[in-house]
Amino acid sequence: MKVLNDIISNAKKAKKRIVLPEGLEPRTLRAADIILRDGIARLILLGNPELIRQEAEKLGANISQAVLVDPKTDPRREQYAVMMTEIRKSKGLTMEDALHLLDDPLYFAPMMIKSGDADGELAGAINATGDVLRPAFQYIKTLPGVSVVSGCFLMFINDPNIGHDGILVFADCAVMPDPDERQLAEIAITTAQTGKAIIGLDPRVAMLRFSTKGSASHDLVDKVVKATKLAMELSPDLKIEGELQVDAALVKEVAQLKAPGSEVAGRANILIFPSLESGNIGYKLVQRLARAEAIGPVLQGMAAPINDLSRGCSVTDIVNMVAITANQAAAII
Ligand code: ACO
Repeated sequence: MKVLNDIISNAKKAKKRIVLPEGLEPRTLRAADIILRDGIARLILLGNPELIRQEAEKLGANISQAVLVDPKTDPRREQYAVMMTEIRKSKGLTMEDALHLLDDPLYFAPMMIKSGDADGELAGAINATGDVLRPAFQYIKTLPGVSVVSGCFLMFINDPNIGHDGILVFADCAVMPDPDERQLAEIAITTAQTGKAIIGLDPRVAMLRFSTKGSASHDLVDKVVKATKLAMELSPDLKIEGELQVDAALVKEVAQLKAPGSEVAGRANILIFPSLESGNIGYKLVQRLARAEAIGPVLQGMAAPINDLSRGCSVTDIVNMVAITANQAAAII
């Protein structure tokens, strides 16, 4: 896949420092061996260094080039804890609380990024999405002008006539259970930026719902119509259309009937789902039934790249997501 090769070769050039909090996890160690051997990124593995080395040896994974850091004994704990109390002053976080939180690699990793000791993070092979995201939300926060973090999937479809040469970007499939109009508009804009930065596509954004251009009237439809207008106001150059049913978004013949004259309908390459429920179910249906490769979730809108893996991830998924995290760190999406 050319796009994936480009992502990996960009990562190699960027030489970013990616921290992996799940340093003892077998798929992570096998992926680390490949990433270091191929020079895709520099790696920091968190955990007890002795145990990490033992586990790697057992697996036959060569991680000698990785930096091993123990969050429980690292000399930077005090410095990170001071920074944490400053950031969470309004929540009353004490030094004692902060030092306790830093025992957890999922808190230690964002603080490495915040302090300039790492460029990006990838976790989630053994931790739930919420546990990976919460420390990132609290300490890394969002990019200026963005209020919401969301997650997109790069969907590689076996049909070059769909999307951008067979690639579609789906969002939000990972974070916001029920976005409001403003959040939906922001998700559309940040997903367009992600598609442009990672795939190099010219974004054509379809705002999905069960109705096309007023074919049904319902509060749920109004929400997407308003979000589309808001996105146009916030980003006047964005090619965006809503509300659209998914067939009108993707199929030229249907678009001609349901949304004639639209520059997006029938040729969309970015699909914005109205809720996490539809986005998460939608990407998994396409992945399983259409046998599309789904890469992600790529988290977007965060002030530094932190990505979350599915607990069912493979070694290849981890390698690819490290490469994407490194691309994001180079672009600061
Ligand atoms: N963007 C930016 N900041 C956010 C976001 C967001 N999307 N959501 C919450 N926050 C911030 C809050 O403002 C808050 O900040 P504060 O502590 O400084 O005030 C902090 O994060 C915690 O907020 P809560 O509302 O308490 O968040 P909670 O921890 O309850 O939930 C979470 C956040 C975990 C992301 C929740 O929205 C969630 O569970 N989402 C679904 C995740 C999921 O299960 N996805 C499907 C699986 S992924 C897959 O299949 C690929």
